[in-house]
Amino acid sequence: MARNDIVDVVSGYVRLGKRSGSNMFGLCPFHSEKTPSFSVSPDKQIYHCFGCGKGGGVINFIMEIENLSFPEAVAFLARRANMALPEQENDRESKKRSRMLALNRDAARFFYEQLSSPAGQRARAYMDKRGIGKATATNFGLGAAPDEWGALDRAMRAKGYTSEELFEAGLIKKGRNGGWYDTFRDRLMFPVIDVRGNVIGFSGRLLGEDGPKYLNSPDTLVFNKGSNLFALNLAKKSKSGYILLSEGNIDVVSLHQAGFDSAVASLGTSLTAEQARLISRFTGEVIIAYDNDGAGQKAAQRAIGILEKLDLKVRVLQMSGAKDPDEYIQLRGPEAFRQLIEGSENQVEYRLGVIAAKYDLGVDAQKVDYLRECEDLLARLPNAAEREVYCRRVASQTGISPEVLIGEVKSRRSRLLRRTAATERSSPERQSQPVERQLRYDDPASAVAEEGLIRLLYLDGSLAAVAGLPDAAEFSSPALGHIYGVVRRRLGEHRSVSADALGGELSAEEVSLLVRILQKPETLSNSKRAMEDYINRIRQRRRAQSDSGDLMQLLEERRKELK
Ligand code: UTP
Ligand code: MN
Repeated sequence: MARNDIVDVVSGYVRLGKRSGSNMFGLCPFHSEKTPSFSVSPDKQIYHCFGCGKGGGVINFIMEIENLSFPEAVAFLARRANMALPEQENDRESKKRSRMLALNRDAARFFYEQLSSPAGQRARAYMDKRGIGKATATNFGLGAAPDEWGALDRAMRAKGYTSEELFEAGLIKKGRNGGWYDTFRDRLMFPVIDVRGNVIGFSGRLLGEDGPKYLNSPDTLVFNKGSNLFALNLAKKSKSGYILLSEGNIDVVSLHQAGFDSAVASLGTSLTAEQARLISRFTGEVIIAYDNDGAGQKAAQRAIGILEKLDLKVRVLQMSGAKDPDEYIQLRGPEAFRQLIEGSENQVEYRLGVIAAKYDLGVDAQKVDYLRECEDLLARLPNAAEREVYCRRVASQTGISPEVLIGEVKSRRSRLLRRTAATERSSPERQSQPVERQLRYDDPASAVAEEGLIRLLYLDGSLAAVAGLPDAAEFSSPALGHIYGVVRRRLGEHRSVSADALGGELSAEEVSLLVRILQKPETLSNSKRAMEDYINRIRQRRRAQSDSGDLMQLLEERRKELK
């Protein structure tokens, strides 16, 4: 990856500046923050966030931010550096992926062709009924799955794909009699296309009576519902400055057709953090246009929380008189919808509205409850000016003095902040603990020595040949043992131990942990001695453990003697 300098690659995603020592700093792309704690070291070619603990080499960075597997990230960087793909241990998997993507593309083409053939008659009639035009269908690559059991299967096998491949892509299923049948039959087909333009899966709407209203591709090697959004491939090109988030595929299609080209939908799941992060790569503002029913409003509340964490500006549309954006546009036209967007509330107003709707403000007791709930909401707003603006609004609405409310919100906020700080301080052991929860150390004292040993091997690979090194099994922490085992073996085989090279063998958490270990200070002036010291500390712990084991045995024997 020598031609993918980490500063160069990261700069494509993060504005790096503010040098401190040899490191560069920026706002972490993996968690929400206001002051930069994300550092990149040009010397070590690694990144590390002091806030969320993520770290690694350039490949880990691409895996994380582009949501790719290890071999995909390697291929991504290879393309970026415009060089031939290096020989890959996971070559087979990446071949399988590209084959599956080719199959999906061919399947999408097949469905699209069916739309203008006799087999697509029902889908065409349905599109007419819903007012979906030809140009829109082409824009989305909509298609028709014929009302047959094996139409797609036959067509794809004629193109050279095997049943096994079709099955793994979720396009066919195994019947009770052992034969195969098409997953999507008699449905209007919506291909799901990722931001790189790959067809990764499908969503099919029922045309007849049988089965669920929508059927989605199962999770496959290339498709995961929770980490993709329908139509983001189109919306990312929009000049509108915001993303319109709706619930249904039909809503999205309808919105685009009416000129709202930044509409997307989560694929039948409620919005996930991963989807939100994906959105945040393309916009700073999201307008939620969920269904007008209870479920939709609840989902909107949840989505606000997720989007806010990523510092996205959030507004919520209030559509009265229609159940969803599609119906709103059909009933009132695009212009009315545009006005809705222009007048849409930001999320604070919206949430205050939701709280207000629960109470009768004419009744004093209810007014008090209302104020209490508002105070809690307002105290959590990060922006001071915003806190004040809404305090004044709520005050005038309820007829109480704004100063009283502002004071109340202020003290509630400092209580909140104190509480957060206290939980952060509460455990001194935390300092030596990895931030990855699943990698907690049972024995922090031994873990410090284990980390030290790994660091030394890293700094001076020749130490790997020294006799008397402990086995990975002697480590108290399984994660550290695993890292140590991999590093030691690779050094023995004279292979690279850069964070990138290890990404294929270690989990993302382990790579992050390794990067953090490497950042702790270590001198090489007397490395042999330091190493012996670390080894002794690791073995001492083992001895202490087996000593206590012996002691238990002794006590057990005494007890037997006394009987
Ligand atoms: P809706 O039922 O609101 O569908 O579900 P819609 O797209 O608005 O379609 P129409 O207008 O009623 O015809 C919203 C979304 O939830 C997912 C789909 O992604 C759908 O677009 N869904 C719904 C499923 O995955 N499975 C289902 O059975 C129903
Ligand atoms: Mn709907």
